[in-house]
Amino acid sequence: MMQSSILQMLRERPGDFVSGEAMCNALGVSRTAIWKHIKDLQDTGYQIEAVRNKGYRLLSAPDLVTAAEIRDGLTTTLFGQSIVFRPTIDSTNNLAQELANNGALEGTLVIADEQEQGRGRRGRNWYSPPRSGVWMSLILRPQLPLAHAPQITLVTAIALAKALTRLTGERAGIKWPNDILFGKKKCCGILTEMSAEFDQIHHLVVGIGINVNVAQADFPKEIQDIATSLRAVKGATLPRAKVVQTVLEELEPLYRQYVENGGFGTLREDWKQMNITLGKEIVAHTAQGTIRGRALDIDEFGVLLVEDQSGEQKKIYSADIMF
Ligand code: BTN
Repeated sequence: MMQSSILQMLRERPGDFVSGEAMCNALGVSRTAIWKHIKDLQDTGYQIEAVRNKGYRLLSAPDLVTAAEIRDGLTTTLFGQSIVFRPTIDSTNNLAQELANNGALEGTLVIADEQEQGRGRRGRNWYSPPRSGVWMSLILRPQLPLAHAPQITLVTAIALAKALTRLTGERAGIKWPNDILFGKKKCCGILTEMSAEFDQIHHLVVGIGINVNVAQADFPKEIQDIATSLRAVKGATLPRAKVVQTVLEELEPLYRQYVENGGFGTLREDWKQMNITLGKEIVAHTAQGTIRGRALDIDEFGVLLVEDQSGEQKKIYSADIMF
């Protein structure tokens, strides 16, 4: 918290010195305490000039996703009020599950610079290198029946499509159920995991992976041709903390609507607007087998309706979709 406040004071005066005394007064701590925090900030990569009788000046900030960076300028009131950052972790979804089981508050954000065992859907790996992506998980506690849980992935996808369109200036599309694409290439995936009691949701962990500044050549070769990053789409690097803030700010109001509506409700239309699945000829690989046909619609639960080759309508609850 103290580091966030110090950073905020430095950032409010770009190019200017902030005196140690002003910081002591504003933050109610000693000069030695300020100096110690400045040193910690320098150790994490901030270039801060310290000049006797003048104070401190921020020269440059590294691209970090620490709690201090995400909090600075964040306008949400629920999401990210509590932030747990780890430089390296196995999977942010694992830690989020553990914290949720131990009573972590709704809206708690778990984020890491790097994941060593990032997980994708269907037991796949999620490539999560350091310094270049957003790998994060959000703990939610909607008081809704279990049947509504899968819809949170679709609500999250709407928020992500909006956020990534805003950040890049290019149109991001939703591929049912959990992928965000630019053109035909995926830049972001969602992995929702849940815990339930009887038929009520106990908590949800919504894991979000976004390739922000990952270099194209660094993607593993199996996904070279199908993966992209915000940097490739925009032609410029983006500050990762800004990406996190934008996503949280888009998702929070949609999540409130989802809880108030008791489900997907009116958000279904928003989803349809941003989706790139409906109307297409698809191949759906489900646990029960493969279905080929035209994607017609999603129902009020977010289930995909497909007309197969014999003209019969099929409901698809979970699948990998190809088109
Ligand atoms: C997919 O498209 O298959 C889902 C990818 C989800 C990746 C994110 S990164 C943060 C969170 N932690 C994980 O281990 N996975 C999710």
